[in-house]
Amino acid sequence: MYSICLLPGDGIGPEVVPSAQAVLNACGLKFKFINAEAGWACFEKTGKSVPAETLDKIIASDACLAGAFTSPKRKVEGFFSAIRYLRRELDLFANLRPAKSRPVKDSSPDIDMLMVRENTEGLYVAQERRYGDLAIADAVITRQASERITKVALEQASKRRKKLAIIHKANVLPVTSGFFLEVAQAEAAKHPEIQSYDLIVDAAAMMLVRSASQFDVMVTTNLFGDILSDLMAGLVGGLGIAPSANIGDKYAIFESVHGSAPDIAGKGIANPCATILSAVMMLEHLGEKETAQGIDNAVNKVLATGPSTPDLGGSATTQEFTHAIIKAL
Ligand code: NAI
Ligand code: MG
Repeated sequence: MYSICLLPGDGIGPEVVPSAQAVLNACGLKFKFINAEAGWACFEKTGKSVPAETLDKIIASDACLAGAFTSPKRKVEGFFSAIRYLRRELDLFANLRPAKSRPVKDSSPDIDMLMVRENTEGLYVAQERRYGDLAIADAVITRQASERITKVALEQASKRRKKLAIIHKANVLPVTSGFFLEVAQAEAAKHPEIQSYDLIVDAAAMMLVRSASQFDVMVTTNLFGDILSDLMAGLVGGLGIAPSANIGDKYAIFESVHGSAPDIAGKGIANPCATILSAVMMLEHLGEKETAQGIDNAVNKVLATGPSTPDLGGSATTQEFTHAIIKAL
């Protein structure tokens, strides 16, 4: 029996998390689910986007499955982004974002790649200052964080096609991005069995669009990883089917790449696939590889035959899609 903390969050989160929960309940393993609150609605209600109680529940569970959390585009006094807080507080330093071809019309063929995004620093330390018409942001790169994220990427590459692209912008930012590149290359040099090479981020974006099948594992800093992983999701069917994992030495939170999708929230038409596939990553992390594969196969079967949600051109509701997956299981 696994104890799983569920963090539905905001927007479509409370629609897609119960869907993944229903699939987990049907997969043959036993779970104890613990519900917890975080995000914008929680902030409005309690004054905190992540209450201490939520942190305790995550720490006490075997893993956590999250929906999505809304962050306002303006600065709100006392508010901090729930997911960024959790990543830093629980030291979830590795953000794994796979993209592989799926049997949907918007997916390019022959893609099976993995973004390993540094999750704790870079520009996402969000140390910003404004002086009238001048605004400045700091980017933080440390040897420790660059080293450990590269180790994760090398380990992932060793289990896959043994190729690692180190993505950076060292030509323009030699002190920060150049430092990341230097540390990552030094780490990669210890693993001659992995074919590692470096790419400038803009060239990487172009190559991803033109020939994504050449990529295996990529490692990069926080912001570049965030942007490129959405691009990667777009190559294989969109945000509705893109999962991710936030992994640390002690804890892990699994969540879709997409956000709270306020434009479709409450309509019952969100694609739960990204969250279901995040649950698949969670099962792999817990060592339940066969069950994980079983759910992945069921997802592919339903994606191939339908029904499908509106983001993939169909007219199915979240519930109809979920029932089809449970039936395929
Ligand atoms: P978004 O990912 O929520 O939505 C982008 C577009 O994709 C929208 O048109 C939406 O309807 C569609 N979409 C997303 N997920 C879908 C799904 N499962 N099924 C069908 N269509 C889907 O990104 P957006 O609009 O930029 O951000 C909305 C809010 O989400 C913001 O407050 C943002 O801060 C937050 N956000 C949170 C994230 C997280 O919790 N990790 C990640 C990204 C954004
Ligand atoms: Mg993003």
